[in-house]
Amino acid sequence: MAIQPFSGTAFDLTGHHALVTGAAGLLGIQHSIALAEAGATVVMTDINEQALEASFQRVKEQGDFNVITQVMDVTNPENVRAVQKSLSAQGIIIDRLINNAAIDPKVKTVEGLGRTDRLENFDIKQWQTEVAVGLTGAMTCASVFGSPMAEKRDGVILNIASDLSVFSPDQRLYRKNNTVDDEQPVKPVSYSVIKAGLVGLTRYLATYWADRNVRSNALSPGGVYAEQDEQFVTRLSNLIPLARMASETEYRGAIQFLCSDAAKYMNGQNVVMDGGRSVL
Ligand SMILES: NC(=O)c1ccc[n+]([C@@H]2O[C@H](COP(=O)([O-])OP(=O)(O)OC[C@H]3O[C@@H](n4cnc5c(N)ncnc54)[C@H](O)[C@@H]3O)[C@@H](O)[C@H]2O)c1
Repeated sequence: MAIQPFSGTAFDLTGHHALVTGAAGLLGIQHSIALAEAGATVVMTDINEQALEASFQRVKEQGDFNVITQVMDVTNPENVRAVQKSLSAQGIIIDRLINNAAIDPKVKTVEGLGRTDRLENFDIKQWQTEVAVGLTGAMTCASVFGSPMAEKRDGVILNIASDLSVFSPDQRLYRKNNTVDDEQPVKPVSYSVIKAGLVGLTRYLATYWADRNVRSNALSPGGVYAEQDEQFVTRLSNLIPLARMASETEYRGAIQFLCSDAAKYMNGQNVVMDGGRSVL
């Protein structure tokens, strides 16, 4: 077999069609820019039409990219299938899928019960909603967009997990002064379960269509600095060998790598980018 020389063109995504779910959010915008910069045509999708339009404008400000938007609810399989059909009718066959959508849970305090983020009071409806978006939604999108990839014998499915897919939340990070134990805020159980589940989905997909040249990996980012409470940022930074949170642009290179031929022998892995926190 002839040895193929490695070159920078391995990162080139020209001619590829990428779809990002939850593209209106903090990282979805960055993933979209990364893919567009590498030359892909990018379909930015989100349930929130207004935020999607604003995010699209932000991406367009970064360059003359091939980017379009499409409102899509990952919890609605009919909607996802209709989007796939409509894109395909326009000649857009998605071969790079980034499952990024997630719910940022709203914490309530229920009279007589306490905070709904705490395990003792965790609301089953909240659990179901978060799982429907972060885990079931990713499976639905993989199923709908993955089949044409398998047919085309070219595809990458990238699941955005979290450093919390490999370790448990350190609940001391969220503690507030002058608050009794039962009222202390916590990272909810749903987040850890969804992110660990995404790694399972990644492994499943990595073998399912491997013979059709469809790869699947997970990217597990550490916390992104977004003007969080100072005490939280200091506590978290103390747990990270690089001694800081990530900036929102720092995952772009990993997105380009994992979605391109530069990573064509990487399959079924969970790439943890956490400033070294998980090796302590
Ligand atoms: N920001 C971080 O520090 C961080 C760290 C590790 C992992 N992550 C993961 O990265 C991903 C993106 O995070 P983010 O900070 O950009 O989140 P975000 O809350 O800013 O964005 C999430 C997006 O998902 C969309 N969404 C919600 N429900 C949807 C649905 N039913 N269908 C389609 N879209 C829907 C929201 O409208 C929102 O635009 C998430 O999976 C998150 O868990 C984020």
